Amino acid sequence: MKRAVIKSVGMSVPDTILSNADLEKMVETSNEWIIQRTGIEERRMCGPHESASSLASAAGKEALEKAGLSPLELQLVICGTVTGDMLFPSTACIVQNAIGAKKAGALDVGAACAGFIYSLDVAAAMIESGHVKNALVVGVDALTRLVDWTDRSTCVLFGDGAGAVVMEAQEGGERGLLKTVLAADGSGAKYINLEVGGTLHPACDPKSDKFKKTVFMAGAEVYRFAVIAMGDACCRVLEQAGMEPGDIDLFVPHQANLRIIESAAKRLGLPAEKVFVNVHKYGNTSGGSIPIALYEAEKEGKLKPGMIVMTVGFGAGLVWGANLIRW
Ligand code: ACO
Repeated sequence: MKRAVIKSVGMSVPDTILSNADLEKMVETSNEWIIQRTGIEERRMCGPHESASSLASAAGKEALEKAGLSPLELQLVICGTVTGDMLFPSTACIVQNAIGAKKAGALDVGAACAGFIYSLDVAAAMIESGHVKNALVVGVDALTRLVDWTDRSTCVLFGDGAGAVVMEAQEGGERGLLKTVLAADGSGAKYINLEVGGTLHPACDPKSDKFKKTVFMAGAEVYRFAVIAMGDACCRVLEQAGMEPGDIDLFVPHQANLRIIESAAKRLGLPAEKVFVNVHKYGNTSGGSIPIALYEAEKEGKLKPGMIVMTVGFGAGLVWGANLIRW
């Protein structure tokens, strides 16, 4: 059986740090409130010359180098993002050019904070079917470019960043993406969205001034949804694989809010040492969050070949999902 195996991970975040103390000077908030409600201490922000594609390209280059794969050997570039450089072309195309992957196809997957989970599954399906031999899968977002810096209930939450993995076909063996659960409920589009800039309310239409040009989020509704969605996706993916929570070596959840992560870990009965957390350093980097966490978990020696790792995420759509991977 052909499996899609993760060969390497790369990541890239901007150098500019925005701390809670910085935010205290911008909106009516406090370091204590942000830490108590979210666990976030600081986040990264794109500088004037950075964007989703520059972060994605840097993360992608690192992953390719670590995999020992030449860009010319790459067959597919997928970017899980909702904050691409432009409405079109896709950010994956800009990355494909920047990294010199001249023979690769390229597409974006729009699943917000679950973008990496969705993208990994699309790439794995194409690898397992024999359609491609390898793929670069990037999760990236730059939401600090799109938040309202006067809205304290959203601007404290987000940061910018990208993570990328190289996936390759492998015959036999046990490693690879084992199972994925993908879920969506579009009736929840009203809870997190950005109205202006698409074809319903184009940025060029003066009538669009009536609509919101920055991220809107109904925080309490999204919080309630997130807790249920994380538990649902984790239980379903484990059931499909015939596994129990005790089989998980490392749990790598979407890094949106420490309280949401802790409640998911509690529901699964996982001890703290099996739960990877770095939300305090980067905030919610949306599509970037899970691959950045995988990168840091590996770097810290918490993720080793053969381990069972479960990722889970949720976001605008509403969408949610989970991957079960033998690393
Ligand atoms: N500083 C101080 N006070 C604040 C701040 C702030 N930064 N933000 C909100 N408050 C206030 C509110 O105004 C409210 O005050 P009020 O009671 O006087 O009206 C009070 O704090 C409590 O607000 P709540 O919304 O009830 O706070 P809650 O405990 O729910 O935490 C939070 C808010 C952190 C936003 C939480 O709801 C959350 O994490 N939601 C999920 C967000 C998420 O994970 N999104 C991911 C998807 S994003 C994507 O897909 C792109």
